[in-house]
Amino acid sequence: MLKKLIPWKSQNQPSSFRDQIMQLKSQEVPSHIAIIMDGNGRWAKKRSLPRVAGHHEGMKVVRKITSLANEIGVKTLTLYAFSTENWKRPKMEVDFLMKLPEEFLGTFLPELVKENVRVKMMGNTDKLPAHTLKAIEKAMNDTKENTGLVLNFALNYGSRVEILDAVKQVLNDVENGKLDKDSLSEETFSEYLMSSELQDPDLLIRTSGEIRLSNFMLWQLAYTEFFFTDVLWPDFSEEHFIEAIEVFQGRQRRYGGV
Ligand code: IPE
Ligand code: IPE
Ligand code: MG
Repeated sequence: MLKKLIPWKSQNQPSSFRDQIMQLKSQEVPSHIAIIMDGNGRWAKKRSLPRVAGHHEGMKVVRKITSLANEIGVKTLTLYAFSTENWKRPKMEVDFLMKLPEEFLGTFLPELVKENVRVKMMGNTDKLPAHTLKAIEKAMNDTKENTGLVLNFALNYGSRVEILDAVKQVLNDVENGKLDKDSLSEETFSEYLMSSELQDPDLLIRTSGEIRLSNFMLWQLAYTEFFFTDVLWPDFSEEHFIEAIEVFQGRQRRYGGV
């Protein structure tokens, strides 16, 4: 039976962090967790810092949550790092965001390799600066034999474009005789998406109090459990992550059944 939802903070006898993790692992752990990491700019503004300071702080949270997810036994962690709409931001901010993967991987790649994490990316690579792509490709290559958590960065990702591109490829394959129109199913269509090698997310977390998807994994989230929190991404802690998984464990997924 699934455990009743008990916010971790209000448990009468707060167990140690280790015990909490053991407790989590004794129940179903979401295999794929996707996170819309939002609120970096507001975090910085609250401290009278430039927005980019929030992005920098958020990077450290990525590191922490990756380790914990791996430890708990999550198979895939997809992180929305930059959307196809984020190019609308001031050039200075976009430039900073495009340097973050290098900084993140430059600092943490050796640790990720040691922790058996496999780095992947989902998004349109055409518009990414060469230096950004180079850092990601190196990380993907250095971790390609790793069998632990898949750390999947959604970078220059937009779900509508992803779906449109998939439709175009499907039409091409039908025209070329590679695909029989009548054999197109949900499963075969999924193979045309950027997430083709991944299962659909079990749990979606969005920080910062915004209750929307912002063009993120529209197809894949059809039956995902959602967890929204007001916490800004740079403040998102291991405890918050555990809380989200506990809430997930208290949910009943019915997929349209009874
Ligand atoms: C999320 O934080 C990071 C990215 C979208 C790159 P924001 O930069 O959107 O922070 P807010 O929403 O302005 O606070
Ligand atoms: C979504 O956040 C994109 C990422 C977290 C990378 P935004 O901050 O761009 O979303 P909106 O503009 O509030 O919908
Ligand atoms: Mg935002």
